[in-house]
Amino acid sequence: MSVPQPPESIPGARLLFSLDPAVSHLNHGSFGAVPVGVQRAQQRLRDEMEANPLRFFTQGLVDRIAHTRRHLAGFLGADPDGSALVGNTTTGVAVVLQSMGLQPGDEILSTDHGYGAVSLAIQRECRRTGAVSRVLPIPLSATDEQLVQIVRDGLRPGRTRLLVVDQLTSATAKLFPTAAIVGVAREHGVPVLVDAAHAPGMLPTTVASIGADFWVGNLHKWAYAPRGTALLAVAPQWRDRIEPLVVSWEQESGFPARLEWQATLDYTPWLAAPAGLFTMRSLGVDRVRAHNAALAAYGQRVVGDALGVPPADLPDPGGPGVSLRLIPLPAGTGTTIDAARALQARIGERLAAEVAVMSWNGRGWLRLTGQVYNTADEYERLATRLPALLAQR
Ligand SMILES: Cc1ncc(COP(=O)(O)O)c(C=O)c1O
Repeated sequence: MSVPQPPESIPGARLLFSLDPAVSHLNHGSFGAVPVGVQRAQQRLRDEMEANPLRFFTQGLVDRIAHTRRHLAGFLGADPDGSALVGNTTTGVAVVLQSMGLQPGDEILSTDHGYGAVSLAIQRECRRTGAVSRVLPIPLSATDEQLVQIVRDGLRPGRTRLLVVDQLTSATAKLFPTAAIVGVAREHGVPVLVDAAHAPGMLPTTVASIGADFWVGNLHKWAYAPRGTALLAVAPQWRDRIEPLVVSWEQESGFPARLEWQATLDYTPWLAAPAGLFTMRSLGVDRVRAHNAALAAYGQRVVGDALGVPPADLPDPGGPGVSLRLIPLPAGTGTTIDAARALQARIGERLAAEVAVMSWNGRGWLRLTGQVYNTADEYERLATRLPALLAQR
């Protein structure tokens, strides 16, 4: 089978970013990259803040935040008044967990594809409340139907008080059929928190179409927002019960202002986030998505071929539009978190390529992303040089 053609590149797109041109940036998924124009927009807001801090914080900031949130929620297909800006997905997850009022014996159900820091947050909430955490193993190759069935069989109505699932997983780059999972959980009266850290900007699915009780996603990964910008969408029946991690002056204003006003903070990432959407729209939202997904798929194939992985063994994300892709590493490579981190750093230093190396289920995986600033030759160069690096243990 021949390698598919890479997508046509987007001329000039690399110049929109500050990225070091000597490095191939093939891991947009971890921390994103903020376009120069968005950095400038944020700097202008910081200049405004520093020119008169008192006026900036006391005259209209709460309304400016609300206005921004409505705009971002509109882009994501979320209820503008049923959503709150938060600093990141981790914070949104923490807000939900501590608002659930868990009791000893209650259960939080999650999957073995969940994000490591989210699993730690679940464990801490369980220690704090006496609830228990149960993790469902899901095969990497599970189809949507199988996945929904596993979740259905795993629910313990009356005991499972929260189901946490990812929209697109970090370690395994797998798309979960979240709307169907929410449907099944609802039949059993189990609320669902969707960790959608990677969805905004990458996936076209609207928040409303998933219908989760809670959904949280980062705009600072794929929607070109400054870091520190995420949206937490909350279904109507939960809004009065959602408490911020920190009580501040908007506490009595209810949801969402009480979540958004978190005392003296730099709120400029949120206010500059619409400039990220502007950048995406200028390039063409559908064009950016199609380009990134096709380039990631191309990179997966060329690097997979170089490592001798048959195309049938390259994990399929399970749906279209996914701009992160996995390649299995040779057996025994990157099998622990420490080994994966060390290999990731070695690839960065020796091959001038930033990639993600993940360890999942006792195996090491390379995760590559596609972005508008990437070109096919960056994956080809990695493919040429990686086998020799992996051979020198
Ligand atoms: C699935 C998933 N959840 C949560 C997070 C955490 O995001 P943040 O560090 O912005 O809170 C990530 C980050 O990569 C992720 O991939």
